[in-house]
Amino acid sequence: MKGIVFNVFEEFIETIAGEEFFDDLLDSTVLQTQVPFVGPGTYPDADLMALFTAAVERLGVEPGQALKQFGQFLFHKLIATGPQYAENVDLRQFLLSIHTVIHVEVRKLYPEAITPEFTYDESDDHLVMHYRSARQLWQLAEGLIIGCAEYFNEEITIETQTYDDDPERCSFTITFNGNSEH
Ligand code: HEM
Repeated sequence: MKGIVFNVFEEFIETIAGEEFFDDLLDSTVLQTQVPFVGPGTYPDADLMALFTAAVERLGVEPGQALKQFGQFLFHKLIATGPQYAENVDLRQFLLSIHTVIHVEVRKLYPEAITPEFTYDESDDHLVMHYRSARQLWQLAEGLIIGCAEYFNEEITIETQTYDDDPERCSFTITFNGNSEH
């Protein structure tokens, strides 16, 4: 996973639990990486998972919920690296562009990046996003979508469907409820 995700994870944990908590976490977790995580670098997913697992254990929070909250936080940091992607498009168009534009550009910039696959089903009322990734991070994807709606100031509801026979897949049915009040 790219260093930016590690860096934002650090920021997320520091925001909710403080710098000291993160420093302790780093000191007491066995990692493959022995150097500081930097944005453009690429590091083992196992290191991110080790930090994440240690953090949720210590904080006593539910892992899926924590991953979703991290996704929500992460969206705002990712879009800050390419705000032009969110210009002149509405939320639906933006979500449709993740697979065909944004993640394509990410992989051009960082050939070692591995982004999930999204396929879409569209109707007037809904957008269905089908997620597939060997990383099985669908709660992260859900959180990213929530963060995205927040960024566009739009109210959405998401109906999430997981597949018992395939943990690499998940489908999100998104309903657009218009502009949010705040
Ligand atoms: C609603 C919007 C988005 C969704 C749902 C989404 C979904 C995801 C997910 C779930 C992952 C984790 C990898 C996996 O599950 O296989 C990921 C990775 C990533 N995404 Fe997105 N993404 C979104 C927007 C963005 C934006 C706006 C950017 C940058 C401008 C971005 C850049 C990246 C990068 C750099 C990675 C890491 C890939 C790696 O380290 O190998 N994403 N994305």
